[in-house]
Amino acid sequence: MNVETSSSSDLSGERFWENVRAAYPMQQPLMNLNNAAVSPPPIVVEQATIDAYRFVSRNPDVNMWSKLDAALPSVKEQLAALADCSPEEIALNRNSSEGLSTVIFGLPLSAGDQVLISEWDYPSARAAWMQRQQRERITVASVDFDVMGSDDEIVRAYEEAMTSSTRVILLTHMLHWTGRLLPVKRICELARERKIITIVDGAQTFAQMPVSFRDLDCDFFITSLHKWLCAPVGNGMLIVRANRIDETWPLLAPFDTPPLRIDKFDHWNLGTYNSALQAGIAPALEFHRKIGPTKIHARLKELSHYWIELAHHIPGFTLHTPLNADLGAVSLFSIANVDSRKVEQALLERHQIHVKYRQARHIEGLRVSPHIYMLKTDMNAFVSALAQVVHTSRG
Ligand SMILES: Cc1ncc(COP(=O)(O)O)c(C=O)c1O
Repeated sequence: MNVETSSSSDLSGERFWENVRAAYPMQQPLMNLNNAAVSPPPIVVEQATIDAYRFVSRNPDVNMWSKLDAALPSVKEQLAALADCSPEEIALNRNSSEGLSTVIFGLPLSAGDQVLISEWDYPSARAAWMQRQQRERITVASVDFDVMGSDDEIVRAYEEAMTSSTRVILLTHMLHWTGRLLPVKRICELARERKIITIVDGAQTFAQMPVSFRDLDCDFFITSLHKWLCAPVGNGMLIVRANRIDETWPLLAPFDTPPLRIDKFDHWNLGTYNSALQAGIAPALEFHRKIGPTKIHARLKELSHYWIELAHHIPGFTLHTPLNADLGAVSLFSIANVDSRKVEQALLERHQIHVKYRQARHIEGLRVSPHIYMLKTDMNAFVSALAQVVHTSRG
């Protein structure tokens, strides 16, 4: 697809997005509404990765380390432009899980130091903090808030939880359970006033919406590139504020004397890895740039608002994500008196529609996360299938 050509002829309509869809591989099952987990790469990205993989096979040692990796500084520059940080603050790794563990295990803390997390944070990040609590006697406290509450209430919950012992706060930018966007910039500001280190888990926000590391003003920002950016599966990015690089330990000891630079966290310092996967990042960035981060964000919101508006007519439909200007590509719903797991199964088996069952604390339901290769006709088909499944379940 030539995104530029189609964008000039039809800037906003479905025709433009039909061209975008044609640029992606066909999805099996046909309707993949679980892009919050992992998204497919556009065909051009898939091809670049396959080509790079073939190139690697022709002479791995030379073609990976000397040739493909020569492009990494330029990839970091492009990522830095999108994330609004310095290329010297960017490390490339496998995914958010790795970035989270790198920071959580790498920060120097002492017994008695307090860390704030929440029950809505990503489970492996929470588990990593629990390990540190057990092993080093730091204290991990959980901030309690209503995921359907206002931003003010959430900010207040974090502020009230901060004490003179608090050294670090883990914040999830968009909750993967429900798609709730948290007011992390405001919480980071309060933390900075108190000299508390902030880690923002941006797995669900980077490339879904414009994100500025400078504007968030956090110390660490973590993301996967195989979610909303549609880079090949197995790519992640860790951003470390320049003044935090020196004090933070890498997860694996680097090959050479620990460098004081960001490259101690880089993929290539973790032993042999597959450079061909990283060769897909630049084409993914180019694809993203051609459409434009603001336009992508607007489209994702449009798709969510569109299907939710239709689904509201199904009796018992309840949305567990605030229906406001922050609503993005990810949302969670349930239907009163209908088993969500059975709906998930019926949608897949009878209609080839893939949504994701999620349950956390008192909230459970089906997570829906369309991406830009989907059309409003898909949303129509999804809601119509949902209405049929619900009707049949109620018998
Ligand atoms: C908020 C959040 N953090 C971390 C992760 C982990 O990402 P990955 O599996 O790419 O490591 C996810 C994945 O869904 C997520 O949604």
